[in-house]
Amino acid sequence: MRARICGTGSCLPGLRITNDDLGNILDTSDEWIRSRTGIGARHLAVDETTTSMSVEAARLALDEAGVRPEELDLIIAATLSADHVLPPLSCEVQRELGAVHAAACDLGAACSGFIFALNTADAYIRSGMYRKILLVGAETLSKLMDWTDRSTCVLFGDGAGAAVVCADEEGVLASVQGADGSKGMVLSCGGRPLRHPYVSENTDTGISSYVQMNGQEVYKFAVRTVPASIMQVLDQAGLRPEDISLFLLHQANRRIIEAVAKRLRQPLEKFPVCLEECGNISAASVPILTDRVNREGRLHKGDKIVLAGFGAGLTWGATVLVW
Ligand code: ACO
Repeated sequence: MRARICGTGSCLPGLRITNDDLGNILDTSDEWIRSRTGIGARHLAVDETTTSMSVEAARLALDEAGVRPEELDLIIAATLSADHVLPPLSCEVQRELGAVHAAACDLGAACSGFIFALNTADAYIRSGMYRKILLVGAETLSKLMDWTDRSTCVLFGDGAGAAVVCADEEGVLASVQGADGSKGMVLSCGGRPLRHPYVSENTDTGISSYVQMNGQEVYKFAVRTVPASIMQVLDQAGLRPEDISLFLLHQANRRIIEAVAKRLRQPLEKFPVCLEECGNISAASVPILTDRVNREGRLHKGDKIVLAGFGAGLTWGATVLVW
């Protein structure tokens, strides 16, 4: 048995902020943001929380899958912006859904998080340990932005996506994952320093508690690693890029997506985007995009699709599956 996606859902917060709106509070413009990234707008949480968006996305996914919350064996939430340090997002989702028989845990692999969650679910299902798993990718990245730093805050948004995966004969064909911690500081966001009574010195690492990014290094990493990881996963499955109907990539930047399409020699139409409307939502990007193309009727039973993520860590992952 392997993991098959049998339902998807997504949720964006109500407040929609265009590039022109940002131009009113920052020294930036629609032309600059759109031409370099492809982003036109992003949605920001006001009354919504990472938990509330996750629960809404999860209910839609459960509904499509025809799975009741009590039937779930496990909930994995991929996030870097849960509402609290404790309890974990996955446990809050479990409580809100009434998924009383599900174990729950969070998974932190930044923008690759949803791919890691899917691959983890597939491994659990192949092992025979679980049969029905809810995956959530959810972020409130607006909390982690320095809203005076135009080089980062214009890129990101808030939202959640979810997928229910069930044990099936068909589903995930192959997956690859990787990490390179030696380049971790190209995309950072600091934590809290030690403050207990036995620490005499200031242990502040000096890493900003807001997201900091070396955009050009991230760009070079992405255009090198994403096509390579996709070719690797296709090789494992005995497939070629031509066999794939859609490539659902992490939504960081349109230029990265175009570069990947070019390297794989595949038409851009096979690479749907939602970043124009949503910006980069880290772990939520891939499940939101998957839900959108699913609800647009662009995914058909038996289609072979690739999901790929890349981001902070540095981390990356790619999965090829039968829809
Ligand atoms: N509006 C106007 N000007 C800006 C803005 C802005 N929002 N942000 C930066 N600038 C200015 C800079 O200050 C700089 O000005 P200067 O030349 O006077 O110093 C100039 O624009 C160029 O800045 P760069 O950082 O060199 O811009 P670059 O062309 O590299 O584009 C970008 C930045 C879009 C981030 C690019 O590096 C990129 O696409 N990187 C990929 C990284 C990425 O997409 N990360 C997303 C998060 S990571 C992830 O999800 C995996």
